[in-house]
Amino acid sequence: MKHLLDSMDLSIQDIDDLINLAIHIKNNRTMYRDVCKYKKLATLFYEPSTRTRLSFEAAMLELGGSVLGFSSANSSSASKGESVADTIRVVSSYADIVAMRHPLEGAPMVASRFSRIPIINAGDGGHNHPTQTLTDLLTIKSEKGRLDNITIGMCGDLKFGRTVHSLAKAMCRYENVKFVFISPKELRVPDYLKDELKEHNFTNYTETESLEMAIPELDILYMTRVQKERFFNEADYIRLKDSYILDMEKMSLAKSDMAILHPLPRVNEISVKVDNDPRALYFKQAEYGKYIRMALICRLLEVETYEN
Ligand code: NCD
Repeated sequence: MKHLLDSMDLSIQDIDDLINLAIHIKNNRTMYRDVCKYKKLATLFYEPSTRTRLSFEAAMLELGGSVLGFSSANSSSASKGESVADTIRVVSSYADIVAMRHPLEGAPMVASRFSRIPIINAGDGGHNHPTQTLTDLLTIKSEKGRLDNITIGMCGDLKFGRTVHSLAKAMCRYENVKFVFISPKELRVPDYLKDELKEHNFTNYTETESLEMAIPELDILYMTRVQKERFFNEADYIRLKDSYILDMEKMSLAKSDMAILHPLPRVNEISVKVDNDPRALYFKQAEYGKYIRMALICRLLEVETYEN
């Protein structure tokens, strides 16, 4: 593994390895506090972020390294017209590893072609978000004890939501996994994603518009925000933004151990009353994000680890 651009860059074995390392780091934090000493992480964020950027920075700092970077395109030379290729050539001589978020699909891939250091895709347009997927998988493995034999409902903006695209591709390779895609017609999963699932001989999914109908069979409900910034017109966004609101009434239809995940940020698709339900795992999920990013940085920088 040289870069991480797409969740499909990771084999099942890579995922297992990163999850094991993340759990080891979580349980033995002092052992890892210097492993990235003198290493620098550059966070190049051309799009807004709270959790992804800060968890990357916290991850590197907890490994004893340091961080530099920018948190919006406006504060970088992109606003003067500099290309990603030129920026990355330069950053390659300032840092040891890069986490990049960009509104254009494929931008981190372009960066990887011009980079002398590992590039991590921290979200590219509506396409992929592999470190969120790793976060989701670590959460599921830790909280459910397995990544197979799972029925997972993905609800909300399945058209533009990169976290869903990334997670579906990664999870379709595990045994006896079923997806229930819950969305309004206009926000269904794109055909290209269905084609990619088919390439992996995965057809075990259904599509529905009704969260109430779907919820009773789910082991996991993965809620998502309607992605305002990717709509072409505001009227469509306004019409679709309140399509689903998970509240306690709907939760009463769910299994007693159904886990609720959400990559966050939440707008209004989960009522705040649900936060106190023990099945609500989204804030814990955000914490897992730091540990899996620590594991990923260790692997990409090939530093010594102590899990075995
Ligand atoms: C997600 C993203 O950026 O795609 N957020 C995150 O990284 N945790 C989800 C979203 O913005 O809705």
